[in-house]
Amino acid sequence: MNPDYLARRYAKPIVFVLCLLPAAWLALGILALQSGNVNSAAAVALGANPVEEIQDTLGIWGLRLLLVTLAVTPLRVIGGWPKLQLFRRMLGLFAFFYVAQHFLWYLFVDQAFNWAQLLADVVKRPYITAGFTAFLLLIPLAVTSTQRAMRRLGRRWQKLHRLVYPAAILGCVHFWWQVKADIREPLVYAAIAALLLGWRLLRSRQRRAAARKAQSDAGTRGQGRERYSGQDQEAARSRAPVQRLADQPPTQQ
Ligand code: HEM
Repeated sequence: MNPDYLARRYAKPIVFVLCLLPAAWLALGILALQSGNVNSAAAVALGANPVEEIQDTLGIWGLRLLLVTLAVTPLRVIGGWPKLQLFRRMLGLFAFFYVAQHFLWYLFVDQAFNWAQLLADVVKRPYITAGFTAFLLLIPLAVTSTQRAMRRLGRRWQKLHRLVYPAAILGCVHFWWQVKADIREPLVYAAIAALLLGWRLLRSRQRRAAARKAQSDAGTRGQGRERYSGQDQEAARSRAPVQRLADQPPTQQ
């Protein structure tokens, strides 16, 4: 069967459901707590401080999916799996979905929809400043994720979507800055982000070098052709009297 068909028909819905699972699990936990079913697995998983647990779970899945989205192109290129590209947009939109829920949970539940408090936090607490900036950077990417926007923006689309790298780095910084003692977990995420960014920078440097080489090769070939055609003309000019003589009937020679 056609691998493109298989990826679209089966793999994409599976990835979609997998990406939804953490949110569905949180929703189950909230419903269980609301209905007083505190011993259900989903409710127990929310622990002693469900508000904080939900906030953290949404944030961590936002960051994970952001990094998975960034890993799609390297895996596609290094692993030689072109079909992976089909999942990139969906993964990116799920990353945004989790980050947006994380932000909304903070605004509505943690801060009781107090915009003034949110702004004060953005100004006063560096880790919130980093997280909020990352969130703002992701908004134009989510808005322009449609095929139509891609066509309309042309080459500018790719430039705009490079914002995903600073967003991921700020997401890691945001995570790192709020950890009090054990930095192992944020360190792992930061290392993955650094690796992905490093690969990206290396690749664009290699591409630029290849483009420069192709350009200079084309230039050399062009000059060679010019020189060659110049020599041809010169030779033709020097041959011309002889040729004219040769072309003339023997009587005139
Ligand atoms: C790209 C954007 C963001 C990412 C990737 C992100 C990611 C994370 C992560 C990974 C955590 C820690 C989870 C854990 O401890 O297991 C976290 C916690 C937190 N985030 Fe974000 N975040 C983002 C944006 C925001 C924004 C916009 C806000 C609010 C304005 C925010 C507020 C918080 C708060 C308050 C916590 C700490 C909760 C606690 O005390 O445990 N984050 N975030």
